[in-house]
Amino acid sequence: MTEQSSQIKNKKRVADHGEVFTHEREVQAMLDLVEHESFRIDSRFLEPACGDGNFLAPVLKRKLERVKQRYVRSQSDFERNSLIALSSVYGVDILEDNVEACRSRLFGIYDTTYAEAFGESTRADCLNAARTILSKNILWGDALSMLRADGSGDPIVFTEWTAVNGRKIKRREYTLANLLAYQPFEGESLFSDLGEQAFIPKPVREYPLVDYLELAE
Ligand SMILES: C[S@@+](CC[C@H](N)C(=O)[O-])C[C@H]1O[C@@H](n2cnc3c(N)ncnc32)[C@H](O)[C@@H]1O
Repeated sequence: MTEQSSQIKNKKRVADHGEVFTHEREVQAMLDLVEHESFRIDSRFLEPACGDGNFLAPVLKRKLERVKQRYVRSQSDFERNSLIALSSVYGVDILEDNVEACRSRLFGIYDTTYAEAFGESTRADCLNAARTILSKNILWGDALSMLRADGSGDPIVFTEWTAVNGRKIKRREYTLANLLAYQPFEGESLFSDLGEQAFIPKPVREYPLVDYLELAE
């Protein structure tokens, strides 16, 4: 029995937004094509039409499985690495209810894994940091226009979370449009060795370093 019961919610949503969910069997087969990356704790995944998280949920489960294998003997190492895993998973969807469902599904996976590992000693600060990360990483937007879908006309902005010096996290924000202008395998490349100017995305905002347990807003 899987978490997923049906591949469509209703015909209108299929007609208006092409909302047909991918079956878990296909999701797992596709993730197996990038098996190493799907288990790597800090590899970044972006799903630009994420629905309620049919790809992001198994990616997070794979990463947390690796965190559990490596760090279950130290709660602080588990917390730091599990938050790094969570912070590497990104999604956008044009339907607000899908965004809410995706955040809550990913939070449920995080919360359950953390509780299974540490029972009653789990910390509210860590769970609040997880909620903050999800509120910044899973966004209500239009992946074609790269604007938020709340009618504000604001661009979709994603947060890069980088672990620094053990317990600290550096937060930088980038517009999706700027990030997608960087294509490692075509045209300008960060790793170009042909003399062209390398393309490096510019952050629109940076935050001071913060302890990973103080990420909650
Ligand atoms: C075919 S479903 C796939 C959902 C999920 N990725 C999966 O594989 O199960 C397409 C999803 O894209 C969303 N969508 C449609 N147009 C979009 C757009 N312009 N920007 C972002 N999301 C969009 C729909 O709301 C729907 O959740």
